[in-house]
Amino acid sequence: MKVTLSLICFAILVGLFVMACRNSSSDDVKGLRPGGATTKTDNARDAHSYSNPEQVRVRHVDLDLDVLFDRKILKGASTLTVERIKPDADSLKLDTRDLKVVKAETSNDGKSFAPAQFTLGAADKILGAPLAIQLPPQATKVRIEYETNPNASGVQWLEPAQTAGKKHPYVFTQSQAIHARSWIPLQDSPGVRVTYSARIRTPKELRAVMSAARADTDKTLSGTYKFEMPQAIPPYLIALAAGDIVSKPLGARTGVYTEPAMRDRAAREFEDTEKMVMATEKLYGPYRWDRYDILVLPPSFPIGGMENPRLTFATPTILAGDKSLVSLIAHELAHSWSGNLVTNATWRDFWLNEGFTTYLERRVTEAIYGREREEMEAALGVQSLKKEMEDLQEADEILHVDLTGRDPDEGFTLVPYEKGALFLRLLEETFGRERFDQFLKGYFEQFAFQSITTDDFIAHLKKNLLDPNPQLAEKIQLEEWIYKPGLPANAPKPQSDAFAKVEAQAKEWLEGKTPAAKLRTKQWSTQEWLHFLRFLPQQLTANQLKELDQAFGLTKIGNAEIAHQWLLISIRNNYETAYPRLEEYLTSIGRQKLIKPLYEELVKTPAGEERALKIYAKARPGYHPIAQTAVDKIMKKA
Ligand code: BES
Ligand code: ZN
Repeated sequence: MKVTLSLICFAILVGLFVMACRNSSSDDVKGLRPGGATTKTDNARDAHSYSNPEQVRVRHVDLDLDVLFDRKILKGASTLTVERIKPDADSLKLDTRDLKVVKAETSNDGKSFAPAQFTLGAADKILGAPLAIQLPPQATKVRIEYETNPNASGVQWLEPAQTAGKKHPYVFTQSQAIHARSWIPLQDSPGVRVTYSARIRTPKELRAVMSAARADTDKTLSGTYKFEMPQAIPPYLIALAAGDIVSKPLGARTGVYTEPAMRDRAAREFEDTEKMVMATEKLYGPYRWDRYDILVLPPSFPIGGMENPRLTFATPTILAGDKSLVSLIAHELAHSWSGNLVTNATWRDFWLNEGFTTYLERRVTEAIYGREREEMEAALGVQSLKKEMEDLQEADEILHVDLTGRDPDEGFTLVPYEKGALFLRLLEETFGRERFDQFLKGYFEQFAFQSITTDDFIAHLKKNLLDPNPQLAEKIQLEEWIYKPGLPANAPKPQSDAFAKVEAQAKEWLEGKTPAAKLRTKQWSTQEWLHFLRFLPQQLTANQLKELDQAFGLTKIGNAEIAHQWLLISIRNNYETAYPRLEEYLTSIGRQKLIKPLYEELVKTPAGEERALKIYAKARPGYHPIAQTAVDKIMKKA
């Protein structure tokens, strides 16, 4: 009896030991075994990094940077803590882009450093330049002294005139997808998770914030700011901003950071944030990042939002005054589960980040603002997806998209977002909400703090949802959804009664039965306005445009999304009254989603192209490097 008991105990201990060993490497790419061999396929290999994490792996990044506004550079050092995966590995390979590397040193004890040989390879247009550093056998730390280039793709330097306050300069980073390497030399792959710490020095009157916890207690403007991110995150989530930034609490663990002029407006707009955190926790398990704050950036921020952990970066174009555009906050918050906790291992697997997050965003929107609002947003999403797919190559309509040899920013289409979200919605509708919610909660638990591939997800899906329910599983068409272009026939269709009513109103007007001013639009939300404008025929007469504008004041509307839709219509139909507003819009906003379609519409005609060139000459210096590259492309094609 005793013997059996101790045998059982021994077996349990062995089991626990094996599990502990597995867990200790759980922050690596799932499926990537030490030594670099992948389990099944090579899908975990990152085509967008020169680094060698399967030989030597960076575990921690310690930054020590000066923010130099006069030279528009970050200057200082990054000290990397490395772990040798292959005992005989003798060099650390890092990603860089346009960095000036001054010196490299290594250390065995973290205290004394000795100079190390390094070579900066030739720069690739997309990937940047590999940096190889010689590693002595016992080295555990690598210190790199460097400075960034004023045109670093991941850093935008703003003149005072480009800020709300007009008095102080501002700087911010945007690291996703592969721009972290333009301001930190590191293994810039989402499969290489790191903890980080930082000391940032700014001009005395400015404040620095990062996607991390403040590590000093001094709340005054000290000129030196310390940060600590104790949870292992992919490098694309390392973020920094500095400027005239103040904060205001929203709830117990939520708040906003903005320039002083925007603080109260932002706090009102985002007053539901704490509720959103609670709603997401109820669905998908605890919020694991302690605080959730939102940084509202100046209007040249090139994207809508960025899910930097603990501190979402957001465009001011969602400050509509009526909370109608805050699904973007639900989206970035949801990334705290899908993306930041469970991360795409490579940019091929981007849909695991964005499709899941778009699905979660809709669930949170439904929980806070109701099903009708959620269905309207889902319907607008499907409309936009279908429209975008008209111009996409088939290969880019695939969820498991191949981006080898291309800039991963090219994968930033609505396919991973909306097609991905529809796939999850199909699973929900097929297996039932209760079972699917359980499944997702288990998924976040199972893969927390890991970077996973599409294969890993599919294996988990089969094991936990499909295989136990073979009859339901048959209806899904899994292979078609993940590996084939287009929208499968079983795609869910969002249903909005409100939109049906909007369409009826639009028809009344188009058929001349009711003048615009008499339409029942008083209670319309932003989403209904967007649907109305999108529903109108492409060609409208000068009188129709004038009538709409007079009835609804569309040319001077402040809501950036509605204005965008109206300006598209105005360009398409050469409605000259709206052109001053168009110029003002394009020279004051840098969010790509809002500006690119307007330039694309403009360059369709010679007169429009001329106008586009004139406006762009004025607007370009104010755009983010990424947005400049994108709009340059549109202008070149024309
Ligand atoms: N992570 C993305 C932004 C991103 C994607 C930056 C790819 C760089 C490369 C973020 O979560 C996002 O999806 N933002 C959207 C808003 C959202 C509501 C769809 C955006 O910026 O438009
Ligand atoms: Zn997202």
